[in-house]
Amino acid sequence: MSGEGKVVCVTGASGYIASWLVKLLLERGYTVKASVRDLNDPRKTEFLEALDGAKERLHLFQANLLEEGSFDAVVMDVKAFSMLHLQFCALEVSSVKRMSILVSQQPYGCCRQNENAAWDFSKEHGIDMIAINPGMVTGPFLQPSATLSAEVILSLVNGIDPFPNMVIPWIDVRDVAYSHIVAFEIASASGRYCVVERTAGCCELIRILTELFPTLQLPDKCSNGSPLIQLKYDVSNEKVKGLGIEFVPLEVSLKDAIESFKEMKLVSL
Ligand SMILES: NC(=O)c1ccc[n+]([C@@H]2O[C@H](COP(=O)([O-])OP(=O)(O)OC[C@H]3O[C@@H](n4cnc5c(N)ncnc54)[C@H](OP(=O)(O)O)[C@@H]3O)[C@@H](O)[C@H]2O)c1
Repeated sequence: MSGEGKVVCVTGASGYIASWLVKLLLERGYTVKASVRDLNDPRKTEFLEALDGAKERLHLFQANLLEEGSFDAVVMDVKAFSMLHLQFCALEVSSVKRMSILVSQQPYGCCRQNENAAWDFSKEHGIDMIAINPGMVTGPFLQPSATLSAEVILSLVNGIDPFPNMVIPWIDVRDVAYSHIVAFEIASASGRYCVVERTAGCCELIRILTELFPTLQLPDKCSNGSPLIQLKYDVSNEKVKGLGIEFVPLEVSLKDAIESFKEMKLVSL
């Protein structure tokens, strides 16, 4: 196993993307130091503690972005970490050589500021940094309840809030997590990676979902009442594919997402 004997740190470990990263790291033999906001909340910790390898190699810590110095103990003595909670924060990082961050989904100015702060920090501390810029993340959930990421698909599937007729770049949660692992394992990986399997508008989503789950009641109009039309733009994923990542097709991601929602009783089929 490639991660045997290596310790990495993941912040925001109970989140949608981060929990998949913890799972994949454990499967590869890494020891994982992971932070959650509340160690006493079993809904945030039990599913992580139940992962294969967790008993032996997962160490949970409590850390909150709003408390200065809170993450220092988590990164102490690790060579690599992924910061996956909502916003970049400076850390005490004497041993760290590599770090990866997720480009946040906050409003553009905010997220650019956040990413720039991470680049400045990595330069200042001589850390190799990789920024993963994912599209809209979908796919299966490890957590017992869905987070914000679920809302786009749920609003379409449940027809609560009809889907806007816009094109969205999509990526599977497992691929986003795996991109962070590549950031640790491939020394030549550097800079910013757009991680997108394909772009698809609601027409395309409805076509795929209807084929997968014919009993779903899907909308036939956009939120403004206009007919659904096929829209398209592309995002290049050449750079990340150069690292040898093969993406999970959107059809599989959507199928697995809906299966998770079914288990959480958020959709009925
Ligand atoms: N999901 C997407 O489609 C997508 C796409 C592009 C970029 N991103 C970015 O990727 C990051 C993770 O996304 P996600 O979908 O995995 O989000 P998520 O499931 O909501 O997870 C966010 C994590 O941040 C933690 N957190 C929130 N406030 C915190 C605080 N004050 N201190 C410490 N931890 C805190 C949460 O802890 P609790 O569990 O305790 O709440 C949770 O573990 C976000 O920055 C998001 O903007 C997401």
